[in-house]
Amino acid sequence: MEHGSILVTGGAGYIGSHVVLQLRARGERVVVLDDLSRGFRRAVLDAPLVVGKVGDRDGVLPLLRRHAIDTVMHFAAYTIVPESVREPLTYYGNNTCSTRTLLECCLEAGVRNFVFSSTAAVYGIPAEGFAAETTATSPINAYGTSKLMSEWMLRDVAASSALRYVALRYFNVAGSDTAGRIGQATPNATLLVKVACEAAVGKRSGVAIYGTDYPTPDGTGVRDYLHVEDLAAAHLDALTYLRSGGSSTTLNVGYGHGYSVREVLAAVERAAGTKLNVREEPRRPGDPPSLVARAERIRSDLGWHPRLDDLDTIVRTSLEWERQLKREPW
Ligand code: UD1
Repeated sequence: MEHGSILVTGGAGYIGSHVVLQLRARGERVVVLDDLSRGFRRAVLDAPLVVGKVGDRDGVLPLLRRHAIDTVMHFAAYTIVPESVREPLTYYGNNTCSTRTLLECCLEAGVRNFVFSSTAAVYGIPAEGFAAETTATSPINAYGTSKLMSEWMLRDVAASSALRYVALRYFNVAGSDTAGRIGQATPNATLLVKVACEAAVGKRSGVAIYGTDYPTPDGTGVRDYLHVEDLAAAHLDALTYLRSGGSSTTLNVGYGHGYSVREVLAAVERAAGTKLNVREEPRRPGDPPSLVARAERIRSDLGWHPRLDDLDTIVRTSLEWERQLKREPW
């Protein structure tokens, strides 16, 4: 059966750009919508880029119609947790309100499938350090809340229309394209793997460990680090699932096991062959001690098979990308 085209919002960003490459490699027709406020034109390697905002109804509705879009993959969002705490309305506007406008346009244009980029931040601080899809949602920052509100809109829209969706709750995304074409280029990065790799290539003087007194095996925070290519593949699996008639669902994307900050830093030192300048600092407000996915459902429901579940591979691709960025900054 001939499938319609796919609109990828935020396709010039870190995760969206990796998804676009995989969709194109599978021969899909793709259009990227990105306002380039945080994304990069050069991250869009193999698809037309429309520069515009998801919340701009007058731009989005004709775009959906012009390209006969039947699937939207929605990545466009602000994702910096501390920024969301300082500027909550920016996050509710750009993430939640824009998603509402996008959904309204999707209904008017007859879009059938919607894949939504959600986050483990919807869980807040789960009691056991693990979160299953059935774990109560209780975000502790505006970023997590802005995404959870979007999940709720999707749920209600799907219940009252023909649109079906998969919402994917990402755990800690890291790594870069294994072919070295793209990676995370965000300035002033705060994510651990990227920060540590920047330190390893000399872009920063060192890296801080935020908290060494957590109730975890080595006292530092534990997270479920996930390679961006495996995460991207989950979106293609979600697309296949929706096209074959799967019902709307919300799924964790993680490997189901975690690493501590010290283990991540040790992996970066191994990959770089140098010692990092590591400082021990107090806990960062709002950080859960441990956040790891219960991630059986995505395997059984979507048939997702991660290929890069290995901390050294994640770190190696991140480091190679950081070296490349240093030689040729974006
Ligand atoms: C958070 C969000 C996640 C969001 C991501 C991007 C939650 C629960 N998760 O992930 O949804 O996508 O931010 O903004 O809100 N660390 C250090 N030193 C550093 C940086 C981090 O020790 O320089 C530690 C943190 O304390 C934490 C771990 O490393 O234990 C991972 O932190 P980070 O990479 O910032 O991601 P999260 O905060 O887990």
